Amino acid sequence: MAADKQPASSSWNPTTWKSKPIVQDVVYEDQAHVDRVLTKLGKLPPMVSAQEIENLREQLKQVALGKSFLLQGGDCAELFDYCSADPIEAKLKVLLQMSLVLTYGARTPVVRIARMAGQYAKPRSKPTEMYNGEEILSFRGDNVNGFDPKDRKADPERLLGAYFHSASTLNYVRTLLDSGFADLHDPSNWNLDHVRSDAVRGEYQEIVSQMTDALDFMRTIGADQPAANSPLRSVDFFVSHEALLLEYESTLTRLLPSPKNNKEKKWYNAGSHFLWIGDRTRQPDGAHIEYIRGIENPVGIKVGPSTDPTRLVEILDRVNPNKDIGKVTLITRFGADKVTQYLPQHIEAVRASGHIPVWVCDPMHGNTKNADSGAIKTRHFVDIIQELSQTFRVHKSCNSKLNGVHFELTGDSVTECVGGSMDLKDADLSTNYQTYCDPRLNYEQSLDVAFLIAKYYQKERRSNDFPSL
Ligand code: PEP
Ligand code: CO
Repeated sequence: MAADKQPASSSWNPTTWKSKPIVQDVVYEDQAHVDRVLTKLGKLPPMVSAQEIENLREQLKQVALGKSFLLQGGDCAELFDYCSADPIEAKLKVLLQMSLVLTYGARTPVVRIARMAGQYAKPRSKPTEMYNGEEILSFRGDNVNGFDPKDRKADPERLLGAYFHSASTLNYVRTLLDSGFADLHDPSNWNLDHVRSDAVRGEYQEIVSQMTDALDFMRTIGADQPAANSPLRSVDFFVSHEALLLEYESTLTRLLPSPKNNKEKKWYNAGSHFLWIGDRTRQPDGAHIEYIRGIENPVGIKVGPSTDPTRLVEILDRVNPNKDIGKVTLITRFGADKVTQYLPQHIEAVRASGHIPVWVCDPMHGNTKNADSGAIKTRHFVDIIQELSQTFRVHKSCNSKLNGVHFELTGDSVTECVGGSMDLKDADLSTNYQTYCDPRLNYEQSLDVAFLIAKYYQKERRSNDFPSL
């Protein structure tokens, strides 16, 4: 193909979604202002490269084949204010530590994708909400409007804000990783004082000691210093967000030379490595699926109790007609009480279709509850573990495999989810409740989950039974 020739799929371009029905759309008062912003955005450089995207795609293929495990995590709603050294370092630290525990537990490499550097747009169940007896527009995420009730009008300048905050976050992540930040998180320095139960602390400590020992041994024999692309030293780290604001996403979709064949150009979303479509916007004939089907990036689809298995296969056929292994990640989020009812039919339908996706469990979004006070949203650690445990079990009994996990988490000591080894209670939630959208696991609870998964794999290796977490 000549260098200037367009890719074969001429029936698709980054704006064909405009002819499809759209949900969760944002209405702006001044379209001319939106157009000016989009023109500017269209000139700004890519944030990620085609090579990085293809690299992730190849890694996700290995995940889909069961040779690696995927860890995806980060804020529900990232705020522009989180674009600052401390929160970025904390999130990177918790994801790196979790991935080390998971690598040790699962005995496979872990692919890390953060919900970060662009996770600004939020779908909402209602366009408006009541505030002090007055009906106001809902907060739609920092790239649409402000959380402050006086700042709820959709402002197109925020799209530019999204670009610059994403670029700056990504830049700091790259800087940290290039400067050896990943090496600082040796398990020998981990503090498990928050774990209230002596028995559980003992179990976690044992995993930490085993990991420390394994790493010491690797160092002694020099096995931690080989080629630059060794999984031990190189820390691939990818970013992702929900592809919700299609004007923004399509403006950042660029025709770039394919790393496999420089003469061929392909459409990449150059604003993030991985994009997903949420539970509310995954209609097979809708605008969001139309957009996502044309890009080369690996993509995710949220799957919930309302997903009809036949429609799910329709989505897969549309988004991935060549059935490329691992191109699509199915992120299931049924709720602890529904997973055994729904997941088997989804697994069977997908298997029968011949698609080989990455199967990931998001045990957060089906388990949101109101705290006792009724005023704030929370999630119970036991429900999160229960959904995860059931998901491992259902995959195993269907002869399938859970390939990864997806969490809403933060590296900070927030108090948003109840339970975990620090035993947070409803009454503790107000101590440091920070989220502007869904409740996240805090640093300690995030490590708890990783330890529980590691323990699950240890048990699995020792028996052929269906262990629980
Ligand atoms: C989310 O991931 O923040 C989200 C809104 O999830 P879902 O689309 O699964 O409800
Ligand atoms: Co959420």
